[in-house]
Formats: sequence, C-alpha cells, structure tokens
Amino acid sequence: MLAFVYGTQKSLALLEIEAPKPTDESAVIKVVATSICGTDLRTYRFGSPKIKAPRVIGHEVVGEIIAIGKNVHGFSVGDRVQVAPAIGCGKCIYCKEGHTNLCDALETIGFDYDGTFAEFMEIPQAAIDRGNVTKLSEDVPNEQAVLAEPVACIINAHQYLNIHSGDVVAIFGSGFIGCMHAELAAIEGAEKVIMVEVNPARAEAARKINDSLIIVNPNNQNLGEEIKKLTGGRGVNVSIVACSVGSAQTDAMNITAKRGRISLFGGLPTNSTGFIDSNMIHYREISVFGVHASSPTQNREALQLISSGILNVKPYASNIFTLQDIGKAFEALNSEKIMKAIIIP
Ligand SMILES: NC(=O)c1ccc[n+]([C@@H]2O[C@H](COP(=O)([O-])OP(=O)(O)OC[C@H]3O[C@@H](n4cnc5c(N)ncnc54)[C@H](O)[C@@H]3O)[C@@H](O)[C@H]2O)c1
Ligand SMILES: [Zn+2]
Ligand SMILES: [Zn+2]
Repeated sequence: MLAFVYGTQKSLALLEIEAPKPTDESAVIKVVATSICGTDLRTYRFGSPKIKAPRVIGHEVVGEIIAIGKNVHGFSVGDRVQVAPAIGCGKCIYCKEGHTNLCDALETIGFDYDGTFAEFMEIPQAAIDRGNVTKLSEDVPNEQAVLAEPVACIINAHQYLNIHSGDVVAIFGSGFIGCMHAELAAIEGAEKVIMVEVNPARAEAARKINDSLIIVNPNNQNLGEEIKKLTGGRGVNVSIVACSVGSAQTDAMNITAKRGRISLFGGLPTNSTGFIDSNMIHYREISVFGVHASSPTQNREALQLISSGILNVKPYASNIFTLQDIGKAFEALNSEKIMKAIIIP
C-alpha cells in the first residue's frame, strides 16, 4: 500500500509498504478520509523527537473496517468509524477520571502506532479497548467527520473557558483552529468574536467563510486601542491563543479584561517561557488555561456537533487531495495558501 512515512533521517516520503493485517484483537480500516494537522506540519518542517521512526504519520481519520480480529466485539466489517488518536492506559488516575489525553503513559496514533496517511491503517487493540473508536451515523460525510479530532481539542478548551452570552472573545490566529474556536464561541453565545491575525490573506480567507468576524491586524493597527474601542474600554472577556507564538500570549494578556479567561491553545517551541506576567493574573483575577489534545468523549461530542449541523464545518472541508498528492497538500499548508487539507486516498 501507499503510505507517507517519517524516516530515521527525519525525512518524509511516500513509499510502497506492506499493508497491515489485524491481530485477533485489532482491526484494519481502509482510510476514507484523513486530514493534516498543525502537528503534522511541524513534523514536515522540523521533524519530531516524539515519533518513533520509521512511522506512518497522521492522526485525524475516518475509515471503513475491512478486516477484524475474532476477539473484537461491537464492530463489524463495513462499519464506518472515527478513531480518537490519543490512547490512555486506562489505569492511571487521569484515565479513570476520563481525562485520558493527560495519561502519564499516553500513546498516540501517528507517533507510537502507524498513522493515517496511508491506504490502510490498523486500529490498535488499545484504541478499541479504551473506547477510542466511534461508529459514524450515515448522514455525516467523510470529509466533515474527519475534522472531529481537531474540533474535539477545541471543545476541550471551551469546557474550561465557559463562554456565554455577552462575552467578547478574541482569537489570535485565523488558521483552521482559530476559525473553529470562532464558530464554537458564536454557538455558545459570544456577543462579538474578534480575530487577531498578522497575515492579511489568512484574515481575508477566514472572513470569506465567516463574515461576522471582526478582524484586527496588530502589525498595522494598535491592538490595545482597537480592543478598547470594541469593548467600551474594558477589554475582552476571553482570549484564545491559537498560534504557537509567545508574543501573542503577551498580547492576549494585555487585552483581557479583569476576571477574564485565557486559553493557551498553541504550545510554544521547547524552552520558551515567560510570556505571561503573573502579577497581571494576580491583580486582575485572570484565569489562564492550558489544553492538550482531547478525550474519546470529546471526539464523540465533536462528531455530534458536526453531524447535527450545529457546527457547520463544510466550508472548511473544501481542499481535498489524493494521497499521491500529499506533498502538494503539505506545501499548500506550509505556504499558508490553504487553511486545512483533507486527503482522500
Ligand atoms: N491544544 C491542542 O490540543 C491543539 C490541537 C491542535 C492544534 N493546536 C495548536 O493550535 C494552533 C493553531 O493551529 P492551526 O493549524 O490553525 O495553525 P496555523 O499555522 O494554520 O494558524 C496560525 C495562524 O496564526 C497566525 N499568527 C502568527 N502569529 C500571530 C500573532 N502574533 N498574532 C496573531 N496571529 C498570529 C498565523 O498568521 C496563522 O494564520 C497551533 O499552535 C497548534 O499547535 C493545539
Ligand atoms: Zn490533530
Ligand atoms: Zn492513563
């Protein structure tokens, strides 16, 4: 089968490799849709110390079960499924509390197991046993259901942020992730969503899909003054940093109102510290939340939002590539020409 493989020399290559076979306790899917995540783009740019090479990468997936082990119950050949990629051990305190994404022994598809940028993928026994596999309802298209995993991470962040009617929300970065935060904030009743974006083409692409966005470019506008104008001088109730940029965290801190909430959604490169002034948190009673990945339950919540049409991801699911053209998809993302790439092998 064809697969996009991360090699020992940190390079990525489209290779012909042997297709997986299920064990008695696992299953194999035909990948019907997979999408490229910011994490994959980072691997493409810089390599990744977390991936055990050689490894098929990719972790956002919808597939059809084509072979299944005799000891697997609850699934059958022909089922269309989504797989939540972060697999907890099932035994530690975090797993027992349902926060499997924070498991001390977390294993992830595309890092510790072969991933989704291939024609076929084995669903490991651990994923089946821990409830990471969800059957899809018939009404949700593959290229929309595949977006459930990143949306699940956004749901995770919003469960901390508690956005409600009257909130003014600022989002830093109008990539796919920032745009999904904006959509969800609007569903939750946010009064205004302000998109802070430094790349005008990116801002324009976001506004083309969501014309309710208020765009501010901190490179040619005074961010503090613009936010004051938009919030009657108070500042925003919620800031979401949807990029991996330390100065955006500082900007978020500066524009957040007293008693506001901040989500540090984008991780920073290793050894980056000190972008938030702790005295501002102290005196202004600000809450700052981290968030990393998502649980199977949050993946199911995302699927529900998508399949019910409450969250309309269709406009974001339009850049589709074949597996053969995955290199072109990465290049388009790398040059920020597109927001999200979906691969239909
Ligand atoms: N926490 C999680 O579970 C999780 C899951 C997925 C992605 N992420 C993170 O979310 C972030 C966004 O992902 P994406 O795929 O949309 O990335 P992306 O690179 O497509 O988008 C980031 C955007 O931020 C903009 N930007 C850069 N510097 C900025 C600044 N100073 N102020 C405002 N905007 C700025 C860029 O122009 C770009 O459009 C990444 O940091 C990614 O690592 C986190
Ligand atoms: Zn992802
Ligand atoms: Zn665990």
